[in-house]
Amino acid sequence: MRIEPIGQHPACIEPLARLHHAEWAPLYDDWTLEAATAELHDHAARTSLPTTLVLVDDDRVLGSVSLLIEDAPALQDRGSPWLGSLFVLPEARGRGSGRLLVDAVVAHAAREGVVLLRLFTLWHEDFYASLGWQVEERTSLHGTPVVIMSIRPAQRVAHTGAPSDAAWTMHD
Ligand SMILES: CC(C)(COP(=O)(O)OP(=O)(O)OC[C@H]1O[C@@H](n2cnc3c(N)ncnc32)[C@H](O)[C@@H]1OP(=O)(O)O)[C@@H](O)C(=O)NCCC(=O)NCCS
Repeated sequence: MRIEPIGQHPACIEPLARLHHAEWAPLYDDWTLEAATAELHDHAARTSLPTTLVLVDDDRVLGSVSLLIEDAPALQDRGSPWLGSLFVLPEARGRGSGRLLVDAVVAHAAREGVVLLRLFTLWHEDFYASLGWQVEERTSLHGTPVVIMSIRPAQRVAHTGAPSDAAWTMHD
């Protein structure tokens, strides 16, 4: 399995955008499928922030994770940047793909000089906590309870080591 920039897999942009939109549209104001698709096309143009990494197995894209300047506008006063849109295809879940994507984007954030990375989650606090993320705040988004968590990417990489070359094929 390899982590690569989404720009190397343009064919996955439209199907991934559809999955992301179906999963998260209710949490955002006016986030259309067209906007979700345009964001991924924009991310495919660069590997620096904001961008998206994909997990590839045998030329098949199994999941994605984004490094964002802004996630939910209502939470933007908490700071920047954010991990967002962590998604693994249902049939590929439960085999460590989510963990691989989270650690890869944290390592990428460290390479980008990000001092503090945040995310918000509805249901996966324990999953992120097991990957070194700490709870910063409990709040709500459109009436839905969410947990804001953060991590210091450089410290995480120092603690765990950078992903091995076999799993990490990002190029500057
Ligand atoms: C969340 C998601 C990315 C996890 O992907 P995955 O590939 O199944 O994750 P992994 O296999 O790496 O799981 C790693 C570990 O976390 C555990 N885990 C997964 N979801 C969890 C949860 N909600 N709470 C606690 N632990 C969880 C797994 O059991 C596994 O534990 P183990 O290593 O002890 O066996 C995937 O379920 C998904 O895409 N969900 C829909 C989108 C979503 O909710 N994204 C997160 C937005 S915050």
